[in-house]
Parts: sequence; C-alpha cells; structure tokens
Amino acid sequence: MKKILLTCFFIIVSNAWINAQELKSPDGNLILTFNLNTEGAPIYALAYKKKEVIKESRLGFILKSDIKMNKGFQIAGTKKQSEDSSWKPVLGEQKEIRNQYNELKADLIQEKSKRKISIYFRLFNDGLGFRYEFPVQDNLRHFVIQEETTEFNLTGDHKLFWIPGDYDTNEYSYTTSKISEMQSLMYNAAHVSMAAQTTIKNLATQTPLMMKTNDGLYINIHEAALKNYPAMCLNVDDKAYSLNSHLVPDAVGNKGYLQTGSFTPWRTIVVSDDARNILASKMILNLNEPCAFDDTSWIKPVKYIGVWWEYFTGGGSTWAYSDDQDVVIGTTDFSKLKPNATHGANTKHVKDYIDFAATNGFDAVLVEGWNEGWEDNTAFKKERIYSFTKAYPDFDVKDLSLYANQKGVKIIMHHETTSSIAEYERQLHDALDFMVDNKYNAVKTGYVGPIIPRGEHHDGQQMVNHYTYVAKEAAKHKIMVDSHEAVRPTGLHRTYPNWFAQESARGTEFEAMEGIHPDHTTILPFTRLMGGPMDYTPGIFQGDLSVYGSKKNKLSTTLTKQLALYVTMYSPLQMAADLPENYMRFKDAFQFIKEVALDWDESYILEAEPGDYITIARKTKGKEEWFVGGITDENPRTALIDFSFLPAGKSYSATIYEDGKTADYKTNPQSYNIRKVTVNSKTKLKQKLASSGGVAISIK
Ligand code: NOJ
Ligand code: CA
Repeated sequence: MKKILLTCFFIIVSNAWINAQELKSPDGNLILTFNLNTEGAPIYALAYKKKEVIKESRLGFILKSDIKMNKGFQIAGTKKQSEDSSWKPVLGEQKEIRNQYNELKADLIQEKSKRKISIYFRLFNDGLGFRYEFPVQDNLRHFVIQEETTEFNLTGDHKLFWIPGDYDTNEYSYTTSKISEMQSLMYNAAHVSMAAQTTIKNLATQTPLMMKTNDGLYINIHEAALKNYPAMCLNVDDKAYSLNSHLVPDAVGNKGYLQTGSFTPWRTIVVSDDARNILASKMILNLNEPCAFDDTSWIKPVKYIGVWWEYFTGGGSTWAYSDDQDVVIGTTDFSKLKPNATHGANTKHVKDYIDFAATNGFDAVLVEGWNEGWEDNTAFKKERIYSFTKAYPDFDVKDLSLYANQKGVKIIMHHETTSSIAEYERQLHDALDFMVDNKYNAVKTGYVGPIIPRGEHHDGQQMVNHYTYVAKEAAKHKIMVDSHEAVRPTGLHRTYPNWFAQESARGTEFEAMEGIHPDHTTILPFTRLMGGPMDYTPGIFQGDLSVYGSKKNKLSTTLTKQLALYVTMYSPLQMAADLPENYMRFKDAFQFIKEVALDWDESYILEAEPGDYITIARKTKGKEEWFVGGITDENPRTALIDFSFLPAGKSYSATIYEDGKTADYKTNPQSYNIRKVTVNSKTKLKQKLASSGGVAISIK
C-alpha cells in the first residue's frame, strides 16, 4: 500500500514539473524549480543537496474584489542572469559582503484578462529570495490586495522556534515545538500581557521563522526590503505542514494598496545543513537596495548608557515630572505643576550620567522622560500625548547640550509616540530641527500601545511607510534612528544605514517585567536578528531586582552571559543598560563592556544551535583586535573555541571573562572569574559555561 501511494505521489509530482524551469545556486547545492500547474497556477519547489526543502508550492495573489491572480496564467517569457559582486556596508558584521546569485525571471500573463505579473527568483549559495513584480499594463493600474497566496509547503513535522502570528507586536517569548504541537501550545504563548496586541485567530506565526528538520536541515523564512507593503505573517496548516502568507491588514481589512510598476518585498528562505551558515547569511542584506545616501560619514556606531533602567528596576524613578494626570499638551503650564520629586530626567542627574559616560568612554547618554506629557502616557486614548520640542521645567536643554558637548558625549533623543502617528508626523520636522539645534545626532523612537489612526496595525502598510518616512526625514538632518515596537526589520539598514537598530522583539526590559527565558538569546539571532541589528540593551549586572525594594524579578542569565551578548547579538548600537553604581561595583567585568567594539571587519560563527548555544568571534574594524562571545541556554556546557580565525604565526594576549566555578543563573549569577592567557591560531579552548551562562573574551 505504502509503495503504491509513493508511486502515485511521484507521478503527480513529475507531471507538474514537466517542462519546468530549473535554476541552480552558484555552488550547485540549491535547486529551484518553477512551473505552471495544470490550472495555470505558478508553482515552485526548492531542494538543497538533493533533499527537498520546499515541496511544490503555489504563488500569486487575490486582488479586490476576488480577482484571482493565482491561476490561469501562461508563461510569456523567461530570462536568466547572474551576479557576482561585492559591496561595503556602512556599519556591519564584516567589511565586505559578496553578492553572488543566479536569477530567473518569469513573465506571466493571464489568458483571458491579459493581466500580467512577473516573478523573480534569486538563488544564492545560502538560500532563495523571490519577489513579484506588477508591471505597468493595460488592464490593471491601481489595485488593492485581498491576500497574497504564497505558499511554503514543508516536507514534514519540523521543529519550529516560533512566536504567535500578530499584527501589532513581536515581543513574545519563543516557543520551541513541532508544527503538530503548536495548536496545543498557542494559548499559553499568546495569552501574555502586551501594550498592543492583535493575535491572529487561526494558527499563525511571525517571521523570521526558524525551523529544523528531523534530518538536520536548518531553514529560515523571512522577507527582505519591506517597503510600501504590509509585513507577512504565516498561516500554519499543522496537518499538511504547510505555511502560507498572511499579510497584515489595515483598519478596513485590506492588505495593501499598490500601483502597477511596483514590486513586493522579497520572500526569503535561508537553508543549510549547518546552523552556523544561517547566522552567517547575508542574503537578506543582498536583496535590499544599496545605500540611498551619498554622504554617510555622519553614521557612526554608538555605545551608550541611559537614564532608563532606573524606570524599570522598581526603585521609584519616573518618566513623569508630576503626579498630576490631567495635563494637556499645549495648554498645561508645566512650570506651575507640583513636581513629584522622582523625575529621572532632571538636569543634575543627567549631568551625572554624562560624567559617567565621559569617564568610561561611552559615546552617548539616552534620556527618557525629558519632555512634556509622561503624566498621562498609559492612557493610549488621546492623540496628543507628548510634545517633542518642549522639555520639562527641570530638564535644561541648552545647558545640557553645552555640558554634553564639552564632555564629548551626545545625548540620545527619545520620542515615545505611544503610536499616535499623525500627531508624530505633524511634530516631526520641528522635532528634527530641535535636535539639530541642540546637537542631538540620534533618536530612539517608540511605538507603545495601539496605533492611532485607530484600527491600523504596527506592521501594516501605512506604518511600514511611516517608519521609512521617519528614517528618511531623519537622514536629511543627519540623525540616526533606533525604533522600538516598530515592524520587524528586513535588511533596510543597507539602504538607510542611519536606521541603525531596532527593538521589535522581546528585549531586556522584560527582565524587569514578565521575564525572559534562558534560551531566548540563543534563538533571537536565528529569528529577529536575521532582519537586522537589535537594540537588546544588555549589560545588567545587578540581576536581583529585589534590592530596589518593590520587585522580585531575577535576571535570566549569569553576569558573564550579559557580557557575551555584546558579541553574540550584533548591533552597531549597544547599551550598557545597568545603573552606573552597579558598574562601579564590578569594575573589572565592566572593562569588557568598555572595550568591546561595535563595528567589524569580519565575523566568525564558531558554534551555533538555535535554542541551545551560540559562540561568535569578531574582528574589530580596522584593528588587530578580536572579541569572542559564547552563550548557552539553561544547560551548562563546554564551548569548544577554535582560535584559527587569528592570523597564523602570531601570539596574542586574551582576557577571558568566565562564569565562576559555582556560577548558576538562578543561585549564583554574579560569580565570575577573569584570567589572561596567550593564544594563537592553533589554540583550542575548552571553556565551561554555567547554566544560562556565557564567556566573553577580548584579544589584543
Ligand atoms: C518601550 C521601550 O521598549 C522602552 O525602551 C521604553 O523605555 C518605553 N517603551 C517607554 O518609551
Ligand atoms: Ca518594547
């Protein structure tokens, strides 16, 4: 019986692929097949080293109202071309990136309606990218997408590292499970407290989605160059092991307004039998457009501290200046309000931070709670919550700008919009001018709470356009942008390198709220970071928050693992998030944060398994200097660090920051040891990592 079934399957499969177009990756390991099936539906399949990765899967769209652009096609023409070039990112994990692929373009036309669509497949050694083009044509101009019908049919019940499909947040904890187990785990995964949350009702997940097959293939599905289009979630069919695109709708349920002469984002499938290659992949960046700016000299990596963690510790510091919640921006005279005496962003306190930054070599100080409006900020009800040009009475903008400048430190501007978008866009130009006038060169934006205009979603087309608009306008003022709660990144930092980091995932703030699992940071590089750098804000040394009085939270890592995150979580923007006083208690460990680089000539993924461990070495840009970071989940392990990334024939001094012998993230997180050893390209180090521990090494 089994045999007969198998034979039938093969006949069906081979029928669909008669006269199929075939495309090979430059190294020949990946093979894409493309064809139309008997209904004239575009179909594709992908194989890696002769193993199926994506089974026959359909492509296309349904336009409003019910115009089917997913079948009835004929192939009007196909074209192949190849590329092999390299380019230099402004900031990055390596100084040069090779862009090598073979491309197949298929022009399709529907027999009756004469509507046209083209599909571009680009096959790299590390994966496949494909996108749709709506060419200019007679029978279609402006149109509305009802749904994109791209499928990713998988070959089995893979292991998934997933968060629930959601239109408004990516800040969930990851669940690791088989596809078939998702449904039973979804309730717990999705029923968590979030400021804005629209979980998809049917079984669905976000991208980047990381998967592992039973026979050891690693597959990552995401998208590249998300512009003027909604983000893609994935519906999951847990019986057929199939995924299909689920675009984020707008307030009236439409999924994108386009004009012909346009492209969709790329759909990306990164594949390897070695998990390290997933982390090393630069395919998503390669699929983005080159840098849009001529002058990028003002775009710099930033290591910063901030008047920030004190708002989360439970120590009483507040963003708000007053306890009077009846404030109205533009009407209330804040100088007449009674100060609450807990306001964090006051001139004196900020000066202390500036001093600390200057003494310890930080580039910048983030100051949250500097501007009018925080009294009423959790209401999410009114459109005008904040002013982005008016400081609180106890925050002296001019004095602080002068003081910071004298000390060679920048202040990072903070714009919490509470997702009131029209209002933010109304204030944006004044806000940008205000920053230039006061010598700010970076802004942290925030999108907490549901979007106003009401009914829109964080990851919909309108918001996607908003984030890029802000990045582009900021660039005109030579301002770098770090957005929190924005749509997950898709490599646009290649095109707009001033949009140099984002949050868009569960970051360190959750250590002081609902918590983070020990395996979280072993998953993030395989998921969220596939699209771009994350402002994860590591560096918490005082992990037991009960010392501050009102909270019971305990950090999910050892102190050493916090150090390692500066290397394993790539970002040209890195925060030392803890309070200065805690760094002064652990001066020798703090030394690593002071030294660690942010911009790299080369990165070497030494060990990696999603959900378990990651070890990465990186060479500082333009310097004979390397940093290594290794982390593990709740299981202690021995990392095998192979130093063959060092130039042969030379010896270097390595400072190793390691978990203490009795370190354990639950019982003894602050136990660490620092030792110096000599290493060369032949050194192989067996390094013990505690439960949710790590290792950080600086090599000179
Ligand atoms: C959420 C951000 O992630 C956090 O960093 C910030 O402090 C708060 N919003 C307030 O803006
Ligand atoms: Ca957040």
